[in-house]
Amino acid sequence: MKASIFGIGYVGLVQAAVLAAAGHEMMCVDVDEEKIARLKLGQIPIYEPGLENLVKEGVSAGRLHFTSSAEEGVRFSGIQFIAVGTPPDEDGSADLKYVLAVARSIAQHMEGHQIVINKSTVPVGTADKVTAAIHEVLKARGKDDLTFDVASNPEFLKEGSAVADASKPDRIVIGTSSSDTEETLRELYASSNRNHEKIIVMDVRSAELTKYAANCMLATKISFMNEMANLAELLGADIEAVRKGIGSDQRIGYHFIYPGLGYGGSCFPKDVQALIRSAETINFDARVLKAVESRNEEQKTTLFSKIMKHFEGNVEGKTFALWGLSFKPNTDDMREAPSRVLMEALWKAGAKVQAFDPVSMEETQRIYADHPALVLCGTKEMALRGADALCICTEWKTFVAPDFDGLKAQLAQPVVFDGRNLYEPARMRKRGFSYYSVGRATV
Ligand SMILES: NC(=O)c1ccc[n+]([C@@H]2O[C@H](COP(=O)([O-])OP(=O)(O)OC[C@H]3O[C@@H](n4cnc5c(N)ncnc54)[C@H](O)[C@@H]3O)[C@@H](O)[C@H]2O)c1
Repeated sequence: MKASIFGIGYVGLVQAAVLAAAGHEMMCVDVDEEKIARLKLGQIPIYEPGLENLVKEGVSAGRLHFTSSAEEGVRFSGIQFIAVGTPPDEDGSADLKYVLAVARSIAQHMEGHQIVINKSTVPVGTADKVTAAIHEVLKARGKDDLTFDVASNPEFLKEGSAVADASKPDRIVIGTSSSDTEETLRELYASSNRNHEKIIVMDVRSAELTKYAANCMLATKISFMNEMANLAELLGADIEAVRKGIGSDQRIGYHFIYPGLGYGGSCFPKDVQALIRSAETINFDARVLKAVESRNEEQKTTLFSKIMKHFEGNVEGKTFALWGLSFKPNTDDMREAPSRVLMEALWKAGAKVQAFDPVSMEETQRIYADHPALVLCGTKEMALRGADALCICTEWKTFVAPDFDGLKAQLAQPVVFDGRNLYEPARMRKRGFSYYSVGRATV
């Protein structure tokens, strides 16, 4: 089959590459001409395990094409995916300007029936807005006899394992009331649906809400666990023991109950906010979600509070080694990353940062271009040199079992602020470190 995807970011590029690998011919459309030019040269604009090879294979098989021309994208096929960003508006609601711009582009160039499938995370009712935008342009073109159907097909892939998730999804949610659209999508996703039925068909509004409900549920688990961690710290309990104790209950499970520095990334913060705002527009007070959000905001400052306490309220002129910049491992995405909140607080307090991350150095450089109080280091060891303490913000595997003697020798003071509970407090004490973690006694 042939399909076009508008918006070649984490979702669009991964889905296009995975669908091309399944034998479909995909046209990738993006307004970012530089991104398209780089992709045509075989350069992958994001870090995602397995993606580079998959894109190369798709291109060499002639099944993956790139263009910045909306017209070329629309004319290529009768299936148009929308996978553009839906960033927060000033008040936190989802900004639909990119989604609606694509809808208008499709209407501007379509010459026959089109299935328009929204993959972006959008509030309930967006399919109606997309439908209205397409109707308006078709009317202006004098082409209101052209037919189209708007469906919802939210994306559940995770950054860091996006290729694996998109290749073997847990479920494929299709929001449509059209049997033709359902059949088309079933055919498109057939290779992911062979082992057992993963396709869940529902009405469009429920599909739109399913995506928000999923992200908000996961964010709730994280904030709940961070609340328990803060309580454990004050009550003299060990949150890691509590985590194992509750995770063993199958109704709770071990996933998403790690205490830490709060959730970040391009999805959870904006999706929780957007659902709160959506609820407000219908006079519904989303009390649980508001608590989830405010716990998360506070959690991002937890390491800084511990640092200030340790250094008796003054870190001016001090240098901090920082391991881990991305909002989670296996991605270079730094949107809403807790590391940024920590770095910015340290700079404001007059401290310097020597940072290392296995893949986010380029992204950090792009965001903080030559910040005078930031040194980007080529290795995790280089970041330690002469620093007054080490802070750990992301649980990359390479930080889990460091050479502790080397670590101690490189640091000016043996102090570790661990936002991911990577080490055993008792062993850190034996090794002679002052060790702060989340939800456990300080040693
Ligand atoms: N990143 C994730 O892990 C993830 C997971 C599931 C769902 N989502 C949702 O999917 C959507 C896309 O997220 P993303 O992370 O891939 O975004 P992204 O920011 O990585 O990419 C969006 C792309 O859309 C392009 N774009 C903007 N306007 C366009 C237009 N008119 N025509 C063509 N291209 C245009 C941008 O240039 C950009 O390359 C969002 O709604 C997001 O919430 C993201």
